[in-house]
Amino acid sequence: MWRRVASLSPMVSSTSRYLSLHQAASRLKTWESFATEIIYPEKGDLPAKRRAPFITFVLGGPGSGKGTQCEKLVETFGLKHLSAGDLLRREIALNSKDGAIILDLIKEGKIVPSEVTVKLIQKELETSNANKFLIDGFPRSEENRIAFERIIGAEPDIVLFFDCPEEEMVKRVLNRNQGRVDDNIDTIKKRLKVFEALNLPVINYYKKKGKLYTVNAVGTVDDIFEKVRPVFASFEKLKE
Ligand code: ADP
Ligand code: C5P
Ligand code: MG
Repeated sequence: MWRRVASLSPMVSSTSRYLSLHQAASRLKTWESFATEIIYPEKGDLPAKRRAPFITFVLGGPGSGKGTQCEKLVETFGLKHLSAGDLLRREIALNSKDGAIILDLIKEGKIVPSEVTVKLIQKELETSNANKFLIDGFPRSEENRIAFERIIGAEPDIVLFFDCPEEEMVKRVLNRNQGRVDDNIDTIKKRLKVFEALNLPVINYYKKKGKLYTVNAVGTVDDIFEKVRPVFASFEKLKE
C-alpha cells in the first residue's frame, strides 16, 4: 500500500514544538521541502522526486553553444532545461518588480544579484516534476555558486564547460538574430570580460572538485554533441 510520509528532519521535528508546521517547512532547503511525497515502502524504493535530483550546470562564454547543446540533451536524455538567462528575460517580459533592474544589468552585460536568479531557479525546481536538470548559464560567479548552495542546499553532480575561442563566440552572438538587447558588439565585449573575471573562477572551482567536463565547442553542432553524449550516457541515474 502507498503511505504518505512527512519526513521532517529530526532537528526540525524537535523544534516544531515551537514552530507551526508551515514555519518549519519554510525553513527547510528546497529538497527537504519535497518531504510529503508518496513512497512505496514495500518496493524499498523511493520515487524519483524523493531522491536528490541530478543537477548539471552548463557553463561557457556567450555564444559558446550552451543553449543549442542543451536542446539536444533534452531530446536525448529527457533532462529538464532551465536557462538562467531565459528566466531573467521572462521577468523583463512580464514586467515584474525586478524586471527593470534586470534589463539594465543585462544591457550592460553585468550579473544580476544572485538572490534574484537563485529564487527564479528555485521556483522552477520546486514546481517541476522532473528529477534531472540542466541549469544553463549558471553559476556565473562565485557569488552565484555560493547563493545556490545556501538557498537550494544542493551541489551539481556534474559541470559541463563549452570551451570556445573568443572570436568564434563573437561571430556566433552577432549572427544569433534573436533580437536580444545584449547581442551587440559593445555588450559582447563587456560580457567576455565578465566571463573571464567572474565565471572562470567558478569553472576552476569545479575542476578542482573533479566535477568539470570540458568540451571543445568548435565544430558542427552534431560533432560537439557527439563529445557531450558520452558524458551523460555514463550516468546510470539518467537512464531511469
Ligand atoms: P549560448 O547559449 O552559449 O549563448 P547559443 O546556443 O545560443 O549559445 O548559440 C549562439 C549562436 O551560435 C546561435 O545562433 C546558435 O545557433 C549558433 N551555434 C550554436 N552552436 C554552434 C556551432 N557549433 N557552430 C556554429 N554555430 C553555432
Ligand atoms: O546566459 P545568457 O547569455 O542568456 O545570459 C544573458 C545575460 O543574463 C548575462 O549576460 C547576464 O547579464 C544575465 N545573467 C545573469 N546571471 C546568470 C545568467 C545570466 O546575470 N546566472
Ligand atoms: Mg544561451
